[in-house]
Amino acid sequence: MKQIIVLVTAGLLAVSLTSWAAVTKKVEQEIAERTKPVGEVCLQGEACASAVKSAAASSGPRSGEEIYNASCTSCHAAGVAGAPKLGDVASWEPRIAKGMETLYSNSINGINAMPAKGLCMDCSDEEMKAVVDYMVEASK
Ligand code: HEC
Repeated sequence: MKQIIVLVTAGLLAVSLTSWAAVTKKVEQEIAERTKPVGEVCLQGEACASAVKSAAASSGPRSGEEIYNASCTSCHAAGVAGAPKLGDVASWEPRIAKGMETLYSNSINGINAMPAKGLCMDCSDEEMKAVVDYMVEASK
């Protein structure tokens, strides 16, 4: 009987020791996770630096369609304030007849109720041309 008690006690002790070790390890991992630096200094030439660079490169010029959907659709989808609707051939025809250069410059500088850059303030001139091309292509 005494032997059994000793065995059981030893068994319980072993079990609680292993789970205690596991808990300690988990806590250590959590502390490491929570105290790791938020930002890492990235030096040019290091692997992390090239990751930063390629992320910036992939967010380069947006497509005409992307910009249209983000900035121009609010007016040009429904024809707000007389805006020529996307895909409405009749209202684009006389505008296209003015020549693409005129459409580019009017979209960049604004015309009447059409605000400069169609409110896409961070759009480059090249991006504005791409979105005008997209709108014209979709409306002929
Ligand atoms: C606040 C509403 C509004 C937004 C936003 C807007 N437009 Fe316009 N747009 C207009 C209106 C109104 C006209 C018609 C202006 C006129 O001819 O009197 C117009 C006309 C145009 C024209 C024809 C210009 C011409 O010379 O006939 C182009 C091109 C154009 N918009 C491009 C864009 C692009 C590109 C965007 C998004 C980057 C955009 N617009 C966003 C209201 C808007």
